[in-house]
Amino acid sequence: MYAENNILVGANENTEVYLLSKLANRHGLIAGATGTGKTVTLKTLAEAFSDMGVPVFLADMKGDVSGLAKVGEPSSKTTERMEKYNLADKGFVFKSYPVEFWDLYGEKGLPIRVTISEMGPQLLSKILNLSEAQEGVLNIVFRVADDENLLLIDIKDLKSMINHVSDNAELYENQYGAVAKKSATTLIRSLLTLEEQGGNLFFGEPALELSDFMQCNDEGKGMINVLDAVKLSTAPELYSTFLLWMISELYETMPEVGDPEKPKFVFFFDEAHLLFDDMSPAFQKKVDQIIRLIRSKGIGIYFITQSPSDIPDTVLAQLGNRVQHALHAYTPKEQKAVKTAAETFRPNPEFDTKEVISNLGTGEALVSVLEEKGAPGIVQQVDILPPQSYIGPIEDNYRAELMSISSLRSKYRDAVDRESAYEMLLNKIDNNPNVQSEIPEDAPIREIPNQAQEAPAQQQAPAQQAPQQEAPKQKGLLEDVIGIAVGTAVDQMAKQTTTKSGRKRKTTRKTTVEKATTTVVNTAAREVTKGIIRGIFGNMK
Ligand SMILES: Nc1ncnc2c1ncn2[C@@H]1O[C@H](COP(=O)(O)OP(=O)(O)OP(=O)(O)O)[C@@H](O)[C@H]1O
Ligand SMILES: [Mg+2]
Repeated sequence: MYAENNILVGANENTEVYLLSKLANRHGLIAGATGTGKTVTLKTLAEAFSDMGVPVFLADMKGDVSGLAKVGEPSSKTTERMEKYNLADKGFVFKSYPVEFWDLYGEKGLPIRVTISEMGPQLLSKILNLSEAQEGVLNIVFRVADDENLLLIDIKDLKSMINHVSDNAELYENQYGAVAKKSATTLIRSLLTLEEQGGNLFFGEPALELSDFMQCNDEGKGMINVLDAVKLSTAPELYSTFLLWMISELYETMPEVGDPEKPKFVFFFDEAHLLFDDMSPAFQKKVDQIIRLIRSKGIGIYFITQSPSDIPDTVLAQLGNRVQHALHAYTPKEQKAVKTAAETFRPNPEFDTKEVISNLGTGEALVSVLEEKGAPGIVQQVDILPPQSYIGPIEDNYRAELMSISSLRSKYRDAVDRESAYEMLLNKIDNNPNVQSEIPEDAPIREIPNQAQEAPAQQQAPAQQAPQQEAPKQKGLLEDVIGIAVGTAVDQMAKQTTTKSGRKRKTTRKTTVEKATTTVVNTAAREVTKGIIRGIFGNMK
């Protein structure tokens, strides 16, 4: 609970343990076996941050975090702790918290959407589990799209773009490197899997603006953003990469604030082992780097997982505030994990840390927080404070009611499918009557729209059924570049070839026209865009 400008995490007969507001951006860990009290601890901390005026984000893996939005009720454990530690005197009352519900599938919260372009090739490769060769192709596809100012918003854009680059591989080879047809085909296939996981719902627009997470309500309480992850947890790569994307976006976009009096934002990463499982050393280095640097932006990241050994040492070393619930010590592997967990604490002469970890009751924990000067405090065995909101899930109709009054509802509810790479590639030639009349049906330049046209048959994205809107600015820009510039060049080339030969010379003309098209698009597009700057994971800056 929030008390004396800090967070009262837990207490015992002799001590109260406060997590200091000004050191809350030094990250943290909540660990413990199943059913030991991790979710309740998470809620207790989230409530305190909200009361402090700090917005938070957390994922609800089992649906039981949603109770934050409902007034708490006394239970035997709660009442016992309230009395034992005089919590009423410290301001403990049962209450509800301001919650914004989010859901990548748009069912149990506002839809969260991200564009393919924002996600970038590296994180997308992680979601799709790509091999090095496939990732190489994806990188080229992104670079071509960036250079040619073709927006990759949804999966159909990406599919069209992969087809386009693969079909015109020889044109792009010199500048970008070889694109193997086989890798491109596998890439398309893995996108189908992503679509089956709901990819068409969350790759699209209106894209999430992270500033919408960082709101306080009228009373100055930080909004608690709850991502419903019950369904999402069945797609672990997507879940963990999506959260990682959010962290890297925060890192790229938030300004430096040095050492603030309290965090600007706190991010809880539940089931954190999913992030680090099978992570390549190079990738992990980047994660380490983000976690190290993001704290100076006032952002605290709290990992939640069963055992600290799920988290790489380099990351663990940066988690200053720790709550360790009970761990089993039955098997040799578990005993080793308990030993490791115990060794991460600064010992308390009054007890054997290792001994205590495996004997903690539900809602009890070993806690160590950073002291005033930033050094880790001595580990304490405490009862974690009960949450002030409801323990357990809220009813569906109450959730629906809260969702219906959200101020962000009109902004995010409906998907929008504006003009992007898919449509641009589709329209590239159709917009130009000269090209249509002069170029033979089987020329490759015609294959672009034909192939792109196949895309919608493979997918039934609700985004496509949603009201269609256009982004005038982007459309105008691209039309200028591709429609007019290419049209003129193609027109000229086509005229030259037909006049000289007096009949259509398919093979040579195809190549010439294509080359001209690509060159003009490249040059013109580069002139109007300064290029897309990509951040640490290749996500858009
Ligand atoms: N600090 C606490 N105060 C009061 N009750 C608590 C506290 N911690 C845990 N409990 C009780 O214990 C139950 C289990 O705790 P919780 O759901 O947090 O476990 P968990 O570690 O998240 O489990 P899982 O791994 O299954 O998600 C809660 O439903 C609650 O009734
Ligand atoms: Mg839980």
